[in-house]
Amino acid sequence: MINTIILLSLCFRFGTTYPKEFARRCGHVHLTISASQDTNLELNWITDCTPPDNIRPDYIALYHYNLKDRSEETPPLVKIRASDHPSGYYKTKIKFGQPWLPGNWEYRDSLTRADQGPHCYPYWIASIKGNDIIDTRCLGIQPTWMNDNRMQIGTQKIGNLFIPGTHNSGAYVGVPKILENYILNQDRSIWTQLVHGIRYLDLRIGYYENDGFYVNHDLVRITKVVQIFKEIRKFVQLAPKEIIVVDFHRFPYPSNFNSTLHEKFVSLVYDYLGDLALPPGGLQVGKGPTLNEIWAQNKNVIICYADKAIARENYWLWQPLYQHWANTKNVDTLKSFLSRAIKEHRVTLNPMFALMAELTPQPIDLFFRTNNLRKLANDVNRKVTVWFRDEWARDVNIVATDYFLGNDIINVAIEANNNR
Ligand SMILES: *[C@@H]1O[C@H](CO)[C@@H](O)[C@H](O)[C@H]1NC(C)=O
Repeated sequence: MINTIILLSLCFRFGTTYPKEFARRCGHVHLTISASQDTNLELNWITDCTPPDNIRPDYIALYHYNLKDRSEETPPLVKIRASDHPSGYYKTKIKFGQPWLPGNWEYRDSLTRADQGPHCYPYWIASIKGNDIIDTRCLGIQPTWMNDNRMQIGTQKIGNLFIPGTHNSGAYVGVPKILENYILNQDRSIWTQLVHGIRYLDLRIGYYENDGFYVNHDLVRITKVVQIFKEIRKFVQLAPKEIIVVDFHRFPYPSNFNSTLHEKFVSLVYDYLGDLALPPGGLQVGKGPTLNEIWAQNKNVIICYADKAIARENYWLWQPLYQHWANTKNVDTLKSFLSRAIKEHRVTLNPMFALMAELTPQPIDLFFRTNNLRKLANDVNRKVTVWFRDEWARDVNIVATDYFLGNDIINVAIEANNNR
């Protein structure tokens, strides 16, 4: 798979002046999951088939197995004529739901080992021309992609790595139905996000007198932080070379989240993650340490803290991480905002920066119940894949999205890092 990609990118680079190696892979395919409540599988293929590539697919199909591994074709789950869908996208009626994670990665307290490397769910997409298969790909997980690619990416600095992330990572469950569509930015647990390959978690913290610390979405409390810490801890235990950036990005409740609460929270974080935390020491300069340098220290959780003073007082906390947030529900506005942010992003005390690649409902949408988060994620996720794959693959650091299974950002990041 990787070999094919490298080979193709070499071919396409030859004879062209613009090294757009990701753009011209006519007929290449990937699967996504709709952000809608139905969680239906979506077929995606590249339609940029500039001549002389004459491999435009006739059919796109979905199977329970890899078509390339079979000599006899059994009936597909779905088969469509590519020309009927010129945008290169088709939403199937097949529900993905919340299946068990492959490779023995399903979370349980007693889990002590799981299978390294990528794994597939039993869903494979294929693009077909005549009797030829152009491309196949499964919907899969990448639980150990950093370690799997360590030879290629070890010398990259953390501030130069393409790191797939989620926005409001903890907002995936636990609020009343009526609020759900405006509060939840995700529909997978933190554990599932990490197992899929997400390596940046954006967490907002609230404190409640009798119940302790929660992950919040602004003023709405969502879930207790302790369970999230346990999942991060368990994941690092099973995948000890994966580097995870945990960003305590805001403290929205109570509005006066004072120093007593910060101290209390920091000590809770330390109890659960302190021994895994990579102290910034002298590392927060330039683009930060390389992955090899981080691995040499055997501490792979980078904890960023939104309060500068608290971060300074605790040797194991990193300085605030800057998030570029467009705060718009318009796709074109988001794109030009991100493009500008990539060119002009300012240097901060933290060597990393995050692009928030999602749309945001405006207050009037809550009032009229329009443009909820699921709809907005569906509006933009396919474009996010294309922008970061075809235009910005070389230039970005952290990219955080909503309903991340609706885009291909994890595979795009892995590929981009192998090509940097
Ligand atoms: C901070 O807030 C907490 C809870 O609201 C309160 O118990 C504590 O006394 C406050 N500390 C300071 C220093 O104001």
